[in-house]
Amino acid sequence: MKMSICWCCVLFLIGIFVGNVQAETCSLASYYSSHMVLQQQPQNAILWGYTDVKTTVQVRVQDNVQDKMYKAQTGFKPFSTTAIWKVKLDPMPAGGPYNITVICQAFTVVNTIYLVDVMFGDVWVCSGQSNMAFTVKQAFNGSEELIDSVKYPNVRLLAVTEVTSATPDYDFNGGLYEPWSRPNSDSLGGKAPTFTYFSALCWFFGRDLFDSLQYPIGLISSNWGGTPIEVWSAPNVLQQCNATESIILEHDEKLEGSLRGPQTPTCLWNSMIHPMLNFTIKGAIWYQGEANTKNPAPYKCLFHAMIEDWRLKWNEGTDGSTDPQFPFGFMQLSTSNSPIPETVGPYPTLRWHQTYDYGYVPNSVMKNVFMAVGIDLVDKTSPYGPIHPRDKEDMGTRLSLAGRAVVYGQNVTFSGPFPSEFTVDTKTLTVLIKYDNGNANIRIVGKIGFEICCSASTTCQSDDTSWVPAEVVSQPTPSSLTVSYYCYKKQAVSIRYLWRDMPCTFKGCPVYSVENNLPGAPFVATLS
Ligand SMILES: *[C@@H]1O[C@H](CO)[C@@H](O)[C@H](O)[C@H]1NC(C)=O
Ligand SMILES: *[C@@H]1O[C@H](CO)[C@@H](O)[C@H](O)[C@H]1NC(C)=O
Ligand SMILES: *[C@@H]1O[C@H](CO)[C@@H](O)[C@H](O)[C@H]1NC(C)=O
Ligand SMILES: *[C@@H]1O[C@H](CO)[C@@H](O)[C@H](O)[C@H]1NC(C)=O
Ligand SMILES: *[C@@H]1O[C@H](CO)[C@@H](O)[C@H](O)[C@H]1NC(C)=O
Repeated sequence: MKMSICWCCVLFLIGIFVGNVQAETCSLASYYSSHMVLQQQPQNAILWGYTDVKTTVQVRVQDNVQDKMYKAQTGFKPFSTTAIWKVKLDPMPAGGPYNITVICQAFTVVNTIYLVDVMFGDVWVCSGQSNMAFTVKQAFNGSEELIDSVKYPNVRLLAVTEVTSATPDYDFNGGLYEPWSRPNSDSLGGKAPTFTYFSALCWFFGRDLFDSLQYPIGLISSNWGGTPIEVWSAPNVLQQCNATESIILEHDEKLEGSLRGPQTPTCLWNSMIHPMLNFTIKGAIWYQGEANTKNPAPYKCLFHAMIEDWRLKWNEGTDGSTDPQFPFGFMQLSTSNSPIPETVGPYPTLRWHQTYDYGYVPNSVMKNVFMAVGIDLVDKTSPYGPIHPRDKEDMGTRLSLAGRAVVYGQNVTFSGPFPSEFTVDTKTLTVLIKYDNGNANIRIVGKIGFEICCSASTTCQSDDTSWVPAEVVSQPTPSSLTVSYYCYKKQAVSIRYLWRDMPCTFKGCPVYSVENNLPGAPFVATLS
């Protein structure tokens, strides 16, 4: 009898001890905190974290009207006492604030995690290289924007720390530059080092979306300067594109610190994207490609394949909550650091590949993809080099226009004029270019920027010496123009537009849309 009482005491004490330890191990994944935005309806937001065998986890979501309790599922890794708990919330309308309480109970010990000021809205991930990392503080109007940002308390920010990993991570093991925050001068990076946080393009995109949608927007900035697309791609993407050879990139020796990002394929997919696959998002935006201009050819396959792969895996990671065709927006490359006006350079090919060689998106291959053209936002005197134009505000506005049209179905002009028909007149030596099947009203700003390839054969290469300038001579209708050319004893076989690394002056490309003043994108086409 004495013995059994003693054993009871021992077990009870062990129970309390273990219970305490267990309750303390109950936590959330690194990217859940107060002030966050969770994805709104019709999708399901997901909350997950860590716990152990003896703990049950419940999640309470409450505001002044509703109060819902969810029981978490727990899954255990084999041979482990730690587990992952997970809750899939019912679809929630945009709005808030909500309080979320995570209640972890082991035996009689209860451990509670309180989150306040949680909003539901649309969550966008912003990734890429230095032009995405480029901060609000570095941008034109940056200092005004830092002060102004407090007017947007329902745009929320999360900045992921730059870190690499050799294997796929399920959480941000390198931590966060900044957990979910409301915007203000500090959280937007007023005192942070350049090229860290917070992304100017991400901010301007989200701010403009908020102005239009008037509901909470969550922005996750996860990017690293100087990185090629291969580092953001899973191994299967590289295989699919025959791009498994390790890439060797020449570093610009002037670039330092965060502008000389890692070059090992897949290493940032592992550490800075993969951890978010269990977090429901609306979509992603991207500004990257400069680090692939040494060898632009594989980009066509890689960019398309990476987008599809992110979509598929995000959909799987969130049990179908993230759209398997989620919207993906990108900035078409702006300008390079050392353009030589006479030579074509690698940028035109890279820009073309960004659209899967269509010249525009969305198209039948790149579905639900939207883009903004930045070729005319030239900034030759940027203190960060011409490759880093400071007018990120116009970029954000253009990208949000494209998002509003393609993602949110708004009736806004979101792309510049794009040609739909060419008519060659061999008598007058002119080409009539019709834009958007006559549906675009164009504004002609300059005469120079078109080229014709004169050839005895039927094809023309990008680096062919047979390209001759063709000048804009007239605008027969609101949606067409003619260019004149001269081919000595040869045929005009191809036409191209803005086929240089830096073909325009600031907002000075030849052709713009009348609505919203958007530049026409570069193109190359065969004249039949
Ligand atoms: C949320 O929590 C805060 C802080 O504890 C409290 O002041 C507020 O009333 C709570 N709001 C709701 C809707 O429960
Ligand atoms: C800077 O802000 C002013 C006033 O808000 C605006 O007129 C101007 O276009 C902005 N500059 C850029 C580069 O966006
Ligand atoms: C990759 O290589 C395979 C086999 O040689 C080929 O069938 C496929 O078209 C290639 N893919 C690309 C994108 O080059
Ligand atoms: C995260 O996604 C992976 C891959 O789909 C899945 O194996 C894992 O169970 C998910 N974890 C959570 C917490 O949902
Ligand atoms: C879209 O807007 C234009 C210009 O405001 C208008 O002419 C057109 O009818 C609108 N289209 C639709 C489908 O609402």
